[in-house]
Amino acid sequence: MIVRQLPEGIVNRIAAGEVIERPAAVVKELTENALDAGASRIDIVAGGGGRRLIRVSDDGSGMARDDLVLCVERHATSKLRGDDLLDIRTLGFRGEALPSIGAVARLTLTTRHAGEPHAWALTVDAGAKGEAMPAALAKGTRIDVEDLFSATPARLKFLKSDRAEAAAIADVVKRLALSHPTVALSLADDDGGTRTWPAQPFGEAGLLARIGDVLGRDFAANAMAVDVSRHGVRLYGFAGLPTLNKATAASQFLFVNGRPIRDRLVLGAIRGAYADVMPRDRHPAAVLFIELDPHEVDVNVHPAKTEVRFRDSALVRGLIVGAIRDAIARAAPTTASTLGTATVTAFRQPAGRTPHGGPQAPLRDWRASAVRPFAGGFAEGAQPAFTMDMAPAADARAAAGPVPEVVADLPLGAARAQLHGTYILAQTRDGLVIVDQHAAHERLVYERMKRHMAEAGIARQALLIPVVVELDPADAARLLARADDLAAFGLVIEGFGPGAVAVRGVVRIA
Ligand SMILES: Nc1ncnc2c1ncn2[C@@H]1O[C@H](COP(=O)(O)OP(=O)(O)OP(=O)(O)O)[C@@H](O)[C@H]1O
Ligand SMILES: [Mg+2]
Repeated sequence: MIVRQLPEGIVNRIAAGEVIERPAAVVKELTENALDAGASRIDIVAGGGGRRLIRVSDDGSGMARDDLVLCVERHATSKLRGDDLLDIRTLGFRGEALPSIGAVARLTLTTRHAGEPHAWALTVDAGAKGEAMPAALAKGTRIDVEDLFSATPARLKFLKSDRAEAAAIADVVKRLALSHPTVALSLADDDGGTRTWPAQPFGEAGLLARIGDVLGRDFAANAMAVDVSRHGVRLYGFAGLPTLNKATAASQFLFVNGRPIRDRLVLGAIRGAYADVMPRDRHPAAVLFIELDPHEVDVNVHPAKTEVRFRDSALVRGLIVGAIRDAIARAAPTTASTLGTATVTAFRQPAGRTPHGGPQAPLRDWRASAVRPFAGGFAEGAQPAFTMDMAPAADARAAAGPVPEVVADLPLGAARAQLHGTYILAQTRDGLVIVDQHAAHERLVYERMKRHMAEAGIARQALLIPVVVELDPADAARLLARADDLAAFGLVIEGFGPGAVAVRGVVRIA
């Protein structure tokens, strides 16, 4: 066998396979470059799910002609000072992104450096590098990537639909938007839709505002601030209340020194922190930032730079678990305030006996009455219920009075206490029931709707004032696509701008 050195074009295509697996990776690399260049505003355009065109424009430092010519070469970077791979303070450091993109697309860079009389442009077409030419651009850098993967049909085949690729692009931009609240961003797609994230002030309030813009007001309104430091590691951000749980872990956003990452250790720590207060199949929402000395973390472990290795992983884990648990403990009464009362009240009302009238009754019923079903659980403070010899250590009987017959016979009995702001402990005639109150509440409403549909069919009730629900634009679009099906079940919705739906009618449960 003859061993040969691979030509540069092939080397770049191999590297591209690792770094640029789909259009969203191009958007990530280019946007990170713009952030590294100190941009305060970044505008992104993605056409055809990023296959046809990706354009990222920034108002950052720009590049002088010589740097422009060099930056598309392999392993050319301005970011690694000296040769310390453990002293990385920028998002990029490998000098691989641009040559990789240039190997699998038509890449055009237009850039203006303050020290140059005018802008310069350079094109790399499927690995073939052109000459630097004078161009027009007032400030910063604009990068166009056209016909991505057209020269590598095998890679094209692995791409998903335009819509799925566009969603992946939006996800990447959202992550970077969360990590840099002070930078204004916009993302435009084919359909003429543009999402903008205005620049926010530096600090906690700015971060929360950006979180609201990216993830919706729901998260921002149900999040607990976290900010702790130990041994030079700082953890800050916002963790969702346990009641804000989701079906997937997609609402967990993690950043290490400003870099979006997906790290098993950190995800596991978050899961552990919520383990006691969340059902196993549910996932918390969180936007968390870890900041530490670059020497304490190795970011050079994954081609797409999405994984990291902590030198002291136990410290990081402990910090996350401890901080989130503390926040949950402090927030427990908040968690229990709204839905809790409603659910507990529902326990006590034999099904179907809820009295109500007037057009808005079903909605009011959800929130139930002002009845305080119990005064806060056990009468005495926490204590071990049993001593070592299994004798009761103290009288831990619930303080509430005897359970009325009619309530004790209900399948879920009478609510007696609430634990961790999430679980209801209920007493039945001869047993006890532990229920996740949110699951229980959903179930109660669902059963009532089912029964009513079977008995009386769908009764729809128009709302006098539509309720506007803010959602992620992709979620809103998905929901609106099924508006007819939902209307058949009594829920009437219509679009209300890109990231919201207006609810005009709901099911009426008499
Ligand atoms: N938008 C931009 N504004 C100014 N300079 C840029 C911009 N994009 C790239 N550069 C310059 O081009 C160089 C090469 O970019 P490239 O993304 O290929 O590598 P990198 O960012 O250094 O490392 P990595 O491969 O990890 O991203 C950068 O180091 C930077 O000096
Ligand atoms: Mg880069």
